[in-house]
Amino acid sequence: MIAGPFLGRQSLLLNEPNAIRRVLVDNAGAYGRTPATLRILHPMIGDGLFLAEGEAWRFQRRTAAPAFAPKNLGLVATIAARRTAALLDRLAREGRRIVDLLALFQELALVVAGEALFSQSLEPHVRALRAHLDAYGTRFARPSPLDLALPQGWPTPAEFLRRRFGRSWFALLAEILAERRARGIETPPRDLFDALAGARDPETGRGFTEQELLDQFATFLIAGHETTALALFWSCYLLALAPDVQDAAAAEARAAELSPEAAPRAQLPLLRAVVQEALRLYPPAFTIVREAKEPDEVAGHRLAPGDLVVVAPWVLHRHERLWNEPDRFDPRRFLPGAPPVDRFAYLPFGVGPRVCIGAQFALVEASLVLAVLLARHRLELVGPARVLPVAVVTTHPDRRPAFRLGARP
Ligand code: HEM
Repeated sequence: MIAGPFLGRQSLLLNEPNAIRRVLVDNAGAYGRTPATLRILHPMIGDGLFLAEGEAWRFQRRTAAPAFAPKNLGLVATIAARRTAALLDRLAREGRRIVDLLALFQELALVVAGEALFSQSLEPHVRALRAHLDAYGTRFARPSPLDLALPQGWPTPAEFLRRRFGRSWFALLAEILAERRARGIETPPRDLFDALAGARDPETGRGFTEQELLDQFATFLIAGHETTALALFWSCYLLALAPDVQDAAAAEARAAELSPEAAPRAQLPLLRAVVQEALRLYPPAFTIVREAKEPDEVAGHRLAPGDLVVVAPWVLHRHERLWNEPDRFDPRRFLPGAPPVDRFAYLPFGVGPRVCIGAQFALVEASLVLAVLLARHRLELVGPARVLPVAVVTTHPDRRPAFRLGARP
């Protein structure tokens, strides 16, 4: 645990599983999102599930949960397998062998999320959506000192620019959602959008307003693809540096039936373990930050409202007291039969009531994308192997290395 002052408040970095449990699970209600998180994310995802609090959050979470139930994961597998095969076919037709895998995964994961959650083809919109997100990432996603220092409700200069940007982003989303709406809302719901659009609060009888639906659309598109694309990128990076593991994963992929119809039944324990190990070494959500809303005591430290608590999967996942050879890429840690991993030492998806709603969705999608890719291609890095992680909302690479997609005999 590291405790220190932070702009007039106390900040705790927790690396101790019991203390993490206190903040994220046992006394989770005493904590909320921080003003800096709101400043950076609100212009892009509004009051959707990620930023909502209290009763509004409970209603949203209950409404969205059925769309992520295990029975719906088969559809995710089918869509991921079909879309990945189509992407590889397109690259083959175009004769492209040297590729920017991160860019390809960002497009692919966006299209998979659009189809699985909103039954909406995002292909015609991918370029505009990604252009907005990339511009936001480079210009507005890092908090300025004032973003961190000022209390909620005090506008910072960067906030004006972010809000202006947010208007253009939401105008684009409104156009896309209008296409989806035009195809009607069904009961029982076919997808997440039907569930959200048809939901009524049992107490008030109120449904989501148009802006609230847009906020959910934005939340699920962003939360549902950027992190998964990074998990895929880092998995491929690690596999390119570990040819033996890559060959074993490719053998597993080739032995499985990966057609879109059979994908939901594909057994891919090693590929899933590769993704889990990549999420350990390069957790896309490198920190989970909370602000105390009520007084609390954590591992002997008294916290006052406004104090910050940081749980850093980045630190925790490489902690020498918690892991054996923490810096080593070894997917066997996550294979069935391996000693169980401490629930509070491995938090790529968080834990407690605000745990990632899309965790299983992401694992199914990423395992299948990797399987279809490795069944066809041997991955090699072109140029220097060193790629460093950079913290910009999520764990990005410091550059976009080129990968060669070799033939797998
Ligand atoms: C590898 C991929 C992913 C990673 C690493 C990841 C990580 C996380 C983490 C750490 C949180 C918890 C944050 C906290 O406690 O403050 C979270 C929440 C969330 N994630 Fe994910 N996520 C991934 C994929 C997805 C997918 C595929 C979806 C949707 C399709 C999704 C939707 C959400 C939403 C809506 C929340 C907010 C939940 C709430 O507050 O109730 N995520 N994610």
